[in-house]
Amino acid sequence: MIRTALVSLFVGCASFAAAQTTTLQAESATLSGVTVATAVAGFSGTGYVEGFDTSTDEIKFTFNATKSQLYDLSIVYNGPYGDKYTNVVSNGAGGSQVSLPATTAWTTVAGGQVLLNAGANTISIQSNWGWYLIDAITLSPSPARGPHKITTKNVNKNANSDAKSLLSYLGSIYGKKILSGQQDQASLDWVTTNVGKTPAILGVDFMDYTESRISRGASSTDVDKAIDFAAKGGIVTFVWHWGSPVGLYDNETQRWWSGFYTAATDFNIADALADTTNANYTLLIKDIDTIAVQLKKLQAAKVPVLFRPLHEAEGKWFWWGAQGPEPAKKLYRIVYDRLTNHHGINNLVWVWNSVAESWYPGNDVVDIVSADTYSQGDHGPISATYNSLLALTNDTKIIAAAEIGSVMDPALLQAYQADWVYFCVWSGDFISGGSWNSLDLLKSVYSSDYVLTLDEIKGWKKK
Ligand SMILES: *[C@@H]1O[C@H](CO)[C@@H](O)[C@H](O)[C@H]1NC(C)=O
Ligand SMILES: *[C@@H]1O[C@H](CO)[C@@H](O)[C@H](O)[C@H]1NC(C)=O
Ligand SMILES: *[C@@H]1O[C@H](CO)[C@@H](O)[C@H](O)[C@H]1NC(C)=O
Ligand SMILES: *[C@@H]1O[C@H](CO)[C@@H](O)[C@H](O)[C@H]1NC(C)=O
Repeated sequence: MIRTALVSLFVGCASFAAAQTTTLQAESATLSGVTVATAVAGFSGTGYVEGFDTSTDEIKFTFNATKSQLYDLSIVYNGPYGDKYTNVVSNGAGGSQVSLPATTAWTTVAGGQVLLNAGANTISIQSNWGWYLIDAITLSPSPARGPHKITTKNVNKNANSDAKSLLSYLGSIYGKKILSGQQDQASLDWVTTNVGKTPAILGVDFMDYTESRISRGASSTDVDKAIDFAAKGGIVTFVWHWGSPVGLYDNETQRWWSGFYTAATDFNIADALADTTNANYTLLIKDIDTIAVQLKKLQAAKVPVLFRPLHEAEGKWFWWGAQGPEPAKKLYRIVYDRLTNHHGINNLVWVWNSVAESWYPGNDVVDIVSADTYSQGDHGPISATYNSLLALTNDTKIIAAAEIGSVMDPALLQAYQADWVYFCVWSGDFISGGSWNSLDLLKSVYSSDYVLTLDEIKGWKKK
């Protein structure tokens, strides 16, 4: 969540049929605010483009396609100034953010897919973080994708009928429809009132249930709200902004209520997990046990939960990701084991929320993979991230857009085969402020046949 985010690390997966690949040289494209250079050897063509230092800087390529189809795009770049992001925008829309990891060699990185029209098209590389060198882009027609190979068998062998129904229902719509979702009850109510439809999924938070926050005055009714929403036939998802159990700075700049941020605590997850007897390990278990009490209420009310603990770990801005992938994966497996095997909580569908392979905790503890992306005003299908998640599990797990800022255009989702099973728009201004999503756009998305709303999923448990 909350402010930052937008990570689309692309992990491989493009296959290039050499004969069909077209290379477009940056130095021959239309340049705005950037210049051709030749100082860094090893480029192709007659030069490369540098000088991405303001947000409007852009390389605009033109490409004539023989027919309308999806293309795999890759970017040949050099990254001497560190890890950066760029934006790829085709025909002025459907942009996606592409990670350009630090490198001092000319490197080819997959840049997702672009849907091109028959005839002339434009593809723009836009600054975003800037500070990288672009040599060229390549385009090759995307190979047709076969049917999904996903499993809808819950990883928890003792999953109850509610959790089984939920995963199986998601499997039944996967690739055919997308469930609408909204974080926070007040924001969901805003959608009902202003858009005229109620989302199928309510997103809520275990944030204000643990000791380090409750002792400072926090409280929550999110569990009750989830039970009420499920009683209306809706689906619920819980994230957990887990305030560190100890070590909160709680000063003027780092207040206790930000205690899930790495910057707000000196709690060290690697140290806490080093052995099972130290005081901080015990505090982590105590917090998990506190959440177990809430999950048991949901289980008793026959509410299955899309449960997404340790979200955005790979971003490192939350303390559970701050020490790298190993402690984060270890803690995720501890949470899974404690809730499933110790507490016998069987109403959960387990949602993992990082994209990079090195952060993946394992097929045996994950039912669904997901990502959070925020790109203001961009209603593209987030296909580069979707394809990264396909590659992450070799298409064996259902994929969800667990948090988004700007909602995806359903037509683009289908054109790109970006088969996100649900989206969940973040709360507050993201949904109602007008700059991330206009009301007209929300009305059009919510009335699309491709987008399922609460009234359209009634009775899903029986399906
Ligand atoms: C691309 O198509 C446009 C018209 O659609 C044409 O004017 C132009 O010459 C074509 N460019 C190339 C390189 O074929
Ligand atoms: C709050 O604590 C952090 C960590 O010690 C420190 O970096 C920051 O300067 C502190 N802020 C204030 C206002 O003291
Ligand atoms: C537990 O974490 C706190 C906060 O980071 C730290 O001050 C304390 O030394 C840790 N305790 C142990 C036993 O490591
Ligand atoms: C996906 O397939 C690759 C290559 O076969 C393998 O190395 C990788 O472990 C697989 N990933 C998962 C999550 O099963």
